[in-house]
Amino acid sequence: MMFQAINRKGTYTTKYDDAKKKFGRDDLLPLWVADMDLASPLCVQETIQKRAAHPVYGYTVYPNAYYEAIQNWMKKRFDWAVDAESIVPCYGVVPSLNFAINAYSKEGDGILIQTPLYPPFAASIKEKKRKLLDNTLLYKNGRYQIDFDDFESKAKESTLFLLCSPHNPTGRAWTKEELEKIIDICIKHEVLIISDEIHADVVYAQIHHSIGSFEKIKQRCVILSSTL
Ligand SMILES: Cc1ncc(COP(=O)(O)O)c(C=O)c1O
Repeated sequence: MMFQAINRKGTYTTKYDDAKKKFGRDDLLPLWVADMDLASPLCVQETIQKRAAHPVYGYTVYPNAYYEAIQNWMKKRFDWAVDAESIVPCYGVVPSLNFAINAYSKEGDGILIQTPLYPPFAASIKEKKRKLLDNTLLYKNGRYQIDFDDFESKAKESTLFLLCSPHNPTGRAWTKEELEKIIDICIKHEVLIISDEIHADVVYAQIHHSIGSFEKIKQRCVILSSTL
C-alpha cells in the first residue's frame, strides 16, 4: 500500500496548528500515535460528504443499522456477542470514562489503575476527588507485566478498576490468562471493571480479548469503545 504525505497545517489541527502556542515554535515534527496523518477510507469520506451535502444538520436518530454494524464488528473481530440494548452511544471515550466514574463511584472511593498510563485516567480520578490506587506495571523480560499480589491488595480497597486494554503506552495486549486473573480478583472483591478498549483494532500478531466476551463478568463491566 502507498502512503502519501498529507499537509494538515492550517486546518485547525491540534498537533500542528497549536504547536507554537504549546512549545513556542512550530517547526516540530509531532510523532503522535492517536492522531495520525493517514487519510480516512474513501467509503468514510464519501458517506460524510453525502450527508454534508444535505443543507439541514438537525438532530439524528441511531438506526438499527448502527447497532448491527457494532454488533457484527465485535462478533467478527473479538468473538463478542453484545446485545443491542447494552450499546450506549456516547461522544468520546475520555468523556465516557468520566461519566462512568461519576455514575459508579463517589468521592473518596478507591479507583485502581495501572501506570505508566494514558494521563486522562489519573486526571479524572483526581479531579473527581476519588482515591487513586496504582498497581504499577513491572518491566520484566522485555515487557510490562502485572504484579497480581499488589493488584489484589489494592483491589480490596477499590470500587472501580480502570483497565486499559490494549494498554497505552506500554503496548501490551493482555493475554486471556492475565484477564481471567484480573476478572477473578475483581469479582472476589466486587470491583466494577471499566475497560477502555479504544485500541482494540490495532493489535498485531496477538489477539485482543474484550472484557465483554468473558461470560462471568458480563454484568459487571463497562466497555469503552470507538471507531478508529
Ligand atoms: C487509551 C486511550 N483512551 C482514550 C483516548 C481518546 O479517546 P477520545 O478521543 O474518544 O476521548 C486515547 C487517545 O489517545 C487513548 O489512548
